[in-house]
Amino acid sequence: MRKWISFPIQEGEVSRQAHCDLPAGTYERELGREGFFGPVSHMHHKHPPTGWIDWEGPLRPRAFDLTKLDSRDASPWDAPLLMHNPKMQMRFWHCHTSMSMLVRNSDGDELLFIHEGSGELFCDYGHLSIRDGDYLMIPRGTAWRLEVAEPMQILMIENTDSAYQLPDKGMLGSNAIFDPAVMDYPRINERFRAQQDDSQWQVHIKRLNQVSKVTFPFNPLDAIGWHGDNTVVRINWRDIRPLMSHRYHLPPSAHTTFVGNGFVVCTFCPRPIESDPGALKVPFYHNNDDYDEILFYHRGNFFSRDNIHAGMMTLHPCGFAHGPHPKALKKSFDNPATFTDEVAVMIDTRQAVEVDAAAFAVEEPAYVNSWQSPGKQD
Ligand SMILES: [Fe+2]
Repeated sequence: MRKWISFPIQEGEVSRQAHCDLPAGTYERELGREGFFGPVSHMHHKHPPTGWIDWEGPLRPRAFDLTKLDSRDASPWDAPLLMHNPKMQMRFWHCHTSMSMLVRNSDGDELLFIHEGSGELFCDYGHLSIRDGDYLMIPRGTAWRLEVAEPMQILMIENTDSAYQLPDKGMLGSNAIFDPAVMDYPRINERFRAQQDDSQWQVHIKRLNQVSKVTFPFNPLDAIGWHGDNTVVRINWRDIRPLMSHRYHLPPSAHTTFVGNGFVVCTFCPRPIESDPGALKVPFYHNNDDYDEILFYHRGNFFSRDNIHAGMMTLHPCGFAHGPHPKALKKSFDNPATFTDEVAVMIDTRQAVEVDAAAFAVEEPAYVNSWQSPGKQD
């Protein structure tokens, strides 16, 4: 890939480069198209773009405390829907007991992110042990079940319009971020063969969000072998070696882990914080005006946010700027941390998401005001 040399317009007082050496006392806002890949401008404001003092109407930044969702559903298809659009739907599933049935998703690929707990996956392709921090990509049409070792909390991100793929890593090369060799897949092993029995098993198939139940007089997970390249894939965030630049705050797209049709799934992993004196050290304010942004906070200290704890989820729809909370921004100037220990999953969707009743039930309505208090922008 080559690009012609071209120059950005510069108007008024500006920094020489984005996210670095901002004019004194100013707040930088990025206005970008196509999720950090299209035309972009950086504006230098006298006030923080999140400095609103009142907000009316349904469009707003929202936060949800998923730790308050306490339904314990035997089937993932009973887990409450949180958000959806025509390409993607998300659920949060408390899986506390081993599944007594098989399930199969005929609506799309399923991406499970194991927020808490551990257990064993049995599926058409064999057996795989799973733990917290795992992504488990289950292709559409795969029959599967979980055996619980420690009760699990699982974020389910369903890709209803395509198969999950990996991002193009461009000039970084194919081994960057994570080497494909760390992707695990289920095995036909002793444990898998031991669960093959002639008991009666049901398969709960989800199609058009309705469940049909098919009964077999044997366990359908009875393969003795398979070959091919369509299978369940597991990646743990601990195997991701995130990109960073000590002189430039990279956009979220640098942390893309999976790509769907119309949305991406990114992983923010622990990494050093920018050390260059002139470089921004917290996420820049931005209007990502072609994408709605969903963040799920898995563990650690969420360095750009106040009042957010593990198990929470935020939604920043397009239409207004978002960025760091005042306390975090002030700390990044006065006493910047040297390392971030946060782990978070971001889902950026091209089409607007609609929030479902289960998420509204655990919404923190004061979130829209959280950029004002307690310390204003001082
Ligand atoms: Fe964003």
